[in-house]
Amino acid sequence: MRFLTLLLALLISTGAIADDINTYDESCKTSIQKLGAALKLALINAMEESGPVGALQTCSVEAVPITETISIEEGMIVSRTSLKTRNPKNAPDKWELAVLEQFEKGKISEFGEIVTDSEGHQTYRYMKAIPTGPICLRCHGTDMNKDVSLKIAELYPEDKAVGFKEADIRGAFTIQKPLN
Ligand code: HEC
Repeated sequence: MRFLTLLLALLISTGAIADDINTYDESCKTSIQKLGAALKLALINAMEESGPVGALQTCSVEAVPITETISIEEGMIVSRTSLKTRNPKNAPDKWELAVLEQFEKGKISEFGEIVTDSEGHQTYRYMKAIPTGPICLRCHGTDMNKDVSLKIAELYPEDKAVGFKEADIRGAFTIQKPLN
């Protein structure tokens, strides 16, 4: 009987965790959609107004504040990272690096789990791969416009985010949602 109660308690609690994770995943996906849409809008507007060189300038000024605003609105840290970053501020931490390597192998394109730190703080961490589309190649591809390359070198002396081909994984959205 005691065993059965235990088993039941276990089943209920794992069920609850699974439900929570589904809810976290859903809210993470919504936040990512918001960030993706906001960044794309800023990019497209800037490209139309001032071409890729001007858009580079706009992205360099706006990308970080846009991610910070969305994070505040969503109550979770939402940002972008990559194995080859343009802005060193977007460099992956250890957990992100391991997930990015899995994405690169092509086995998965999203991943989430609860991570507990040494002080017992729990965080739901989630990542979703970002594929390279045709428009991305203007600033992340090979054989780019010379003025674009010069501007990148000026703004990002440590840039590693070039040489991508269409459909390569350019990086990932990454989320940290504090749970306690
Ligand atoms: C007009 C040039 C331009 C275009 C086009 C562009 N990017 Fe970027 N991208 C940048 C700049 C500039 C940064 C650095 C932003 C910053 O300072 O945070 C960046 C950063 C990123 C990052 C964050 C990681 C890092 O490298 O720092 C990702 C991911 C990314 N871009 C993906 C894309 C994708 C996907 C596309 C196509 C949909 C795209 N970019 C199109 C200029 C561009």
